[in-house]
Amino acid sequence: MVKKIEIRVEIDEYDSIGELTDLDARLLEAAGKAADTAYAPYSHFNVGAAALLDNGEIIVGNNQENVAYPSGLCAERVVMFSVGAHHPDVPVKAIAITAKSEEFGIDEPLAPCGACRQVMVETEKKHGQNIRIILRGQKGKIHVVNSVSDILPFSFSSDKLKGK
Ligand code: THU
Repeated sequence: MVKKIEIRVEIDEYDSIGELTDLDARLLEAAGKAADTAYAPYSHFNVGAAALLDNGEIIVGNNQENVAYPSGLCAERVVMFSVGAHHPDVPVKAIAITAKSEEFGIDEPLAPCGACRQVMVETEKKHGQNIRIILRGQKGKIHVVNSVSDILPFSFSSDKLKGK
């Protein structure tokens, strides 16, 4: 008998930044500011990310493109690797991610790519602490997810390397 396994994802949707907590609003604002200085001459799709550390510090990053396209990196991984390099022992509590473009409007919350979800889930597992994700486009609704693993179920994890 085939057994169906259902996965449920809960997303909190807000209509405006005014509905967020002050901290989440500040984080989203920092992400928006970071997007302004993204290096995105090829896609013209500026992404900014701001990570809130357990010690209250906010670390920002943005996408860095390259003429050899695959050499570029998404904003989320720029931030997560920067946190890993400079604050290896500090857990990440939350990350706000947003995008803007001068060429077209972005009115839907950004959805992080699979590779970035994998990198963020690694940080969650490393510290055993969930990372809340706050997502917004240039305008429009805001999505808040409680944990990266919620949007990356069945992720590859280190226990698989130990034959478990
Ligand atoms: N990008 C990000 O920085 N984060 C995402 O979650 C999606 C895509 C970047 C990569 C590239 O520089 C541009 O957006 C277009 O894909």
